[in-house]
Amino acid sequence: MRIWTAGLPDAADKHAVEEILRDHQRRGVRVQAVLRACVVVVALTVIVLIRPRERLWATIALTLLYAVWSAAMMAVSWRDRGRNSLALAVPLVDLPLLTLILCVAGDFTDPNWSSPFSADAFVFIPVLAAFQLRPRITAVSGAAATLTYAVASGVGHLHAQPDLQFTIGHALFIAMISIASVVLSLIQQSRVRLIAELAQQRSKLLARTVAAGDRERRDLAEALHDGPLQSVLAARLDLDEARDAPPQGGGLKEALGRAEEALRDAARQLRSSVTELHPAVLERAGVSRALEELALRCAVRGRFEVRFTSDATTAGRDTDRMLYQCGRELLANVVRHARASHVEVLLALAGPVAVLEVRDDGVGLAAGRRPLVDRLADGHIGLAAQRVRVEEAGGSMTLTANAPTGTAARVTLPLEPSAHGGRTTGAAGGGNGDGTRDKAGDGAGAVTGGEGR
Ligand SMILES: Nc1ncnc2c1ncn2[C@@H]1O[C@H](COP(=O)(O)OP(=O)(O)OP(=O)(O)O)[C@@H](O)[C@H]1O
Ligand SMILES: [Mg+2]
Repeated sequence: MRIWTAGLPDAADKHAVEEILRDHQRRGVRVQAVLRACVVVVALTVIVLIRPRERLWATIALTLLYAVWSAAMMAVSWRDRGRNSLALAVPLVDLPLLTLILCVAGDFTDPNWSSPFSADAFVFIPVLAAFQLRPRITAVSGAAATLTYAVASGVGHLHAQPDLQFTIGHALFIAMISIASVVLSLIQQSRVRLIAELAQQRSKLLARTVAAGDRERRDLAEALHDGPLQSVLAARLDLDEARDAPPQGGGLKEALGRAEEALRDAARQLRSSVTELHPAVLERAGVSRALEELALRCAVRGRFEVRFTSDATTAGRDTDRMLYQCGRELLANVVRHARASHVEVLLALAGPVAVLEVRDDGVGLAAGRRPLVDRLADGHIGLAAQRVRVEEAGGSMTLTANAPTGTAARVTLPLEPSAHGGRTTGAAGGGNGDGTRDKAGDGAGAVTGGEGR
């Protein structure tokens, strides 16, 4: 029989957060049922130890009636998981029944008579209600218990010498416990909400991480398909040609040379994919260097010339990562969609924001199309996903037409405070003195150099 189940619940939306709160309220009703059973045991023990002042058998009968109610509530609270109709049970049933038992037992007729049960039963009411995480019902229960005690004591003592000080003092005590129970109930309620909201954020993050992982795998598959696989296939065709070529002719040598070149290409592309995948490269070299390498690799894949300009090395760890991911998407788009012959990549880390621009002279965006919105429905989430991340970090992403042709993409991100040190690290390594690095023209050659088998 489990009252409580541990573990962080899955909360995908606001509705789920409320459902978690309701679930905790249902669990509270179960705790109430257990407490009620304890009260029955205590009441019967008190009857045995200190006989009621009046009407023994009637008191026992009513206590047994309360035991039946307690058992019924126990059964219902464990079976009925969906309904919250038990919320008002404390003020509407427990309080009247316990008051009736005390009245029948004559607890209110003699100011000098005192039994442990009559003194504490009313204190128990707001405490019992507080378990439901419903502050209003706790408040109603507490107020009703205080009032009932005051009235029952006042009326019961009318014919005798009333002990007003005791009645007022005890009523105040019940009121104080009631207020404490309401506050406890409020705190518990807000804690459950907080936990539920944390669970909601966790669900969202998980979903986003899974989507990001899927995209990375797809990007990797595409890069391997478009790069090394094509080179290996080309090498195989060249080897087929070499096998059929006459041994003495120049065709054999030529085909073998082409196959060798294609295999070199495959090795180089695989090496650059491996480099790109390793996060340490970005951390060690800084975003400027990593983006430059990326631009050069894309220049080879997209057969365009690239000019890379940067005024510093790093924008801070997290901003570096985000800038790199945006740069990768923008450059991948240029390779896939732009058919450009010249591309300019600009990284500016001086000032309050980091700016990344990728401008191409390709076919440009289709007229009347909003690239950040229109292709989302077809599952093209590249730009949209990056834009969401950038905006969450307080930045912006825009895509406009480039003059005279092509597309201009611009990403801005607030610089991390720690990156101010990074900005003073100066120009990217290997610059032209003014912090500008120019790889126009022979990007492909620059990457191929130093690659071996
Ligand atoms: N540099 C560009 N030149 C021309 N069109 C572009 C360029 N960049 C983006 N686009 C257009 O914007 C659309 C949306 O780009 P986005 O990156 O969101 O999706 P995708 O590249 O088609 O698919 P995914 O990135 O999800 O694999 C592209 O389909 C393309 O039509
Ligand atoms: Mg894309």
